[in-house]
Amino acid sequence: MSYQEEYREALEHPQAFWKRQAQEIQWFKQPTKILSKDENGIDRWFADGELNTAFLALDYHVLQGRGEQTALIYDSPVTGNQRSYSYKELTAEVAHFAGGLKRQGVGKGDRVIIYMPMIPEAAIAMLACARLGAIHSVVFGGFAPHELAVRIDDAEPKVIVSASCGIEVNKIIPYKPILNDAIAMATAKPDTCIIVQREQCKCELVAHMDITWEEAVYNVTPADCVAVKSTDSLYVLYTSGTTGKPKGVVRDNGGHAVAMKYSMASVYDMGIGDVFWAASDVGWVVGHSYIVYAPLLAGCTTVFYEGKPVRTPDAGAFWKVCEAHGVKGLFAAPTAFRAIRKEDPDCKLAEKYDLSKLKTIFMAGERLDPPTYEWVVEHLKKPVVDHWWQTETGWAIAGNHVGLGLTRVKAGSVTRPSPGYNVEILDSKGKPVAANEQGSIAIKLPLPPGCLPTIWGDHSRFESGYLNTYKGYYITGDGGYLDDEHYLFVQGRTDDIINVAGHRLSTGEMEEVLAGHDAVAECAVIGQNSDLKGEEPMGLVLLKDGITIDDSELELQLIQRVRDQIGAVASFHHAIVVQRLPKTRSGKILRKVLRSIANGEEYVAPSTIDDPACLAEIEEMLTKKGVRRII
Ligand code: COA
Ligand code: AMP
Repeated sequence: MSYQEEYREALEHPQAFWKRQAQEIQWFKQPTKILSKDENGIDRWFADGELNTAFLALDYHVLQGRGEQTALIYDSPVTGNQRSYSYKELTAEVAHFAGGLKRQGVGKGDRVIIYMPMIPEAAIAMLACARLGAIHSVVFGGFAPHELAVRIDDAEPKVIVSASCGIEVNKIIPYKPILNDAIAMATAKPDTCIIVQREQCKCELVAHMDITWEEAVYNVTPADCVAVKSTDSLYVLYTSGTTGKPKGVVRDNGGHAVAMKYSMASVYDMGIGDVFWAASDVGWVVGHSYIVYAPLLAGCTTVFYEGKPVRTPDAGAFWKVCEAHGVKGLFAAPTAFRAIRKEDPDCKLAEKYDLSKLKTIFMAGERLDPPTYEWVVEHLKKPVVDHWWQTETGWAIAGNHVGLGLTRVKAGSVTRPSPGYNVEILDSKGKPVAANEQGSIAIKLPLPPGCLPTIWGDHSRFESGYLNTYKGYYITGDGGYLDDEHYLFVQGRTDDIINVAGHRLSTGEMEEVLAGHDAVAECAVIGQNSDLKGEEPMGLVLLKDGITIDDSELELQLIQRVRDQIGAVASFHHAIVVQRLPKTRSGKILRKVLRSIANGEEYVAPSTIDDPACLAEIEEMLTKKGVRRII
């Protein structure tokens, strides 16, 4: 069917449409209820169906005679290692590790935190949890102990799976001290930690708590796939909200499996045996959906890459991997291509490699700016697909569905809404606006399969954060418009979330970290545009009366604080002391105006401002410090 036909059917007959898509996976018990309400009144898909996601990703393919096909290729320029797993081998590894988890008491519904670098054991641990019906929660390896501790307390894991270290280009990051600190900080203590000892940096184990991966699987009986309900949780993935406490996005099993399988064909045009490479990290939603689950559910070969787009060893890394493994679809964040462009402006390194198998380049995670889009198209001469989604949805809300023959692109647009997503643009009163008018991007309920049904342990936060603003709609937190051909243009977040190198971070959370410093009375963290990372945070701080501290010394302390409490990944490099912060008469800090000042953009002081003179003062201060962008 064409994009137009699928889009229309999903809109007008969602149950018939998704019932058909659900037939593409093998259920243990076929669902008869396609769409129903749960106890919270939330729409749920395939509620009476039963399945196992790891079975569909692995055993199913072996049973279909594809056991010898490559399931996963681990390519690690940072260690010089490469390793392939056939579907049969990966199934066996997962069954063994699931047996190991079971021996530690992990069963259906138990949580397991996975804090790992990009090594295959991370995927094996995720799939092993799925096999047991346990719920995994992967925490990105770049997060600091405090972030990990918050997630441990929220998820209350029985077991944590981790590794002795990660490797960032040529820097070894010992993970064990971070894990130990996090467990010490957390109130909820795991029973066991299973540690992969990497030869680059072995760690000491904590007695009565830690065991090695080898010990975990030693002499173990492989575990069978456990049947779970469609609505049972597969994983919880924490993402930044507007406060310091991250939100645990819950993903179910049934809707997720159906959506993953569907999107692999429709959005990415990938099928059995195709090689797909999402150059991300399992700590992010892209890693969950398109490094691990979707490619395996679709019988593809997935590339698991432990490296960067540049410096491992050079800006030709992407092309090298594409040639080496015959990648058909490459998915990365625009920031990765900006990093390559910076080091290899004419893309000369790509000429060294045979990229004939590479059919399409997919980008998401942040806005694809037209210059980056044009640079990639010009130099790679491949179709570039921008698609827009979020941790909450798990798959593309809108995109250029190459698998459905949708090929017309408009630069700056994420193309058309995906079948199943009824996207509308609402004004501040929740009324749909006309074509080409800007507003809040919302999705009319029901959300399609795969999207979150709740926030872990805090359903009211799901309702207040997403559903209560406009009745009958899910609000995405992004603003934008639909043009008269129903092409969607996403213009950025309408809340306090910023996007740093494709990583979603909360400025509210950074403000809490800065405000915790003894010298700081008040602060504002804003996103400043960055040519490489899209956005980077900048802090403006006001000192408490009577405090005397050197500005530069304070800045260093605040930078370190963010590194220690959130992680280096926040890329927090500027904390500027100011005399006053612009506020409305009711006391709200005017962050939008501050953002414009820091970005060197024109701004108009709102009529509600309390003290207009402070704007010029801040402009002068940022200019003096050399941190105001000049455009
Ligand atoms: N574990 C530990 N530390 C990590 C980490 C991890 N998994 N990932 C990043 N960090 C650290 C880095 O070492 C760096 O530390 P430093 O400040 O001490 O040097 C810091 O966090 C910032 O890292 P990063 O954002 O990766 O910046 P960079 O300058 O090293 O690299 C890019 C820039 C553009 C090459 C890189 O950001 C990139 O590859 N981006 C693609 C992002 C992506 O795939 N996003 C997924 C969404 S689809
Ligand atoms: P995350 O939950 O980390 O995937 O981040 C989701 C947010 O990233 C979205 O709400 C958008 O603000 C932004 N985003 C993701 N993909 C795109 C895209 N293709 N274009 C513009 N913004 C994007």
